[in-house]
Amino acid sequence: MLSISVKEFLFWKKKQLSKGGDNQSFSFLLECKGGISTGDLNLLNIEPESNIYLKENLDYLGSIWEDHLFNFFPIQYLCGATFWRDLKLKVTDKVLIPRPETELIIDIVFKICGRKSKKLFFAELGTGSGAISIALALEYPLWEGIATDIDQDALEIAKKNYINSSQQSNLRFYCGHWWNPLESFKGKLDLAISNPPYIPEDIYEKLPKEVKNFEPKIALLGGQDGLKHIREIIQKAPLFLKEKGWLILENHFDQGEKVKQLLIKNKFTSIEIVKDFSGIGRFTIGRYK
Ligand SMILES: C[S@@+](CC[C@H](N)C(=O)[O-])C[C@H]1O[C@@H](n2cnc3c(N)ncnc32)[C@H](O)[C@@H]1O
Repeated sequence: MLSISVKEFLFWKKKQLSKGGDNQSFSFLLECKGGISTGDLNLLNIEPESNIYLKENLDYLGSIWEDHLFNFFPIQYLCGATFWRDLKLKVTDKVLIPRPETELIIDIVFKICGRKSKKLFFAELGTGSGAISIALALEYPLWEGIATDIDQDALEIAKKNYINSSQQSNLRFYCGHWWNPLESFKGKLDLAISNPPYIPEDIYEKLPKEVKNFEPKIALLGGQDGLKHIREIIQKAPLFLKEKGWLILENHFDQGEKVKQLLIKNKFTSIEIVKDFSGIGRFTIGRYK
């Protein structure tokens, strides 16, 4: 630990923020790399004469901040972590940084299954960092879940995140293309969830640098119209879901109606387009018959 006067630290902090960026990202950097929590930061203003202790020196922290500001490196990758719901998850550039809007998937599950649900079997297709599956496995200790991904490196991160967040063993991890790893669970799933890659090709090309240059293309690109993976997931879902089993999908802001039509075509009922906090039809859900 390095000791430094609060005055010097606050001067340095002001200088860093004057270069650009937002307070939240800077506080995140200080917490993850510097070992200074937001609570510690708030105390500094009332104790300006004291000293604080940092895990890393100011030059190093400043260089990370500049990498974020000037090279568009996502702060979560630089810090190796992100917060999602009440989880702290390890992230590397092998996994998509789980987005705040995706947190709502867990609330959708609460709504359709209740907070205290009996034993149930779920699968998440394309788990990435494991965020959704881990949150569900923790919320519902009686449930059994399988989290899949095509990318073994992503699965390794998801497994680590599960071990770091849970003492339980109600979640398994399988590698493979969408439903393929679930061959032996045909007709057995009560619930399937996916936030698949859904960005259409032309939009992918215009994504902000911090996304396009750093996050895995395989986690974002959904073919020419963005629906390539969603189509495949919906078409095969009836083979794997139990009768009345639920499918919950995240989609691009303007895909809700198309996803709804795909669900109708594949004999789903109780279909609903669920809005996110910005009023965007971000999720489409349905029940198999
Ligand atoms: C948009 S990311 C979602 C990650 C995570 N579930 C989340 O919500 O943050 C899509 C995930 O699907 C995985 N994926 C892409 N193509 C796949 C395929 N053909 N089969 C299985 N998973 C795939 C990617 O590796 C990535 O982890």
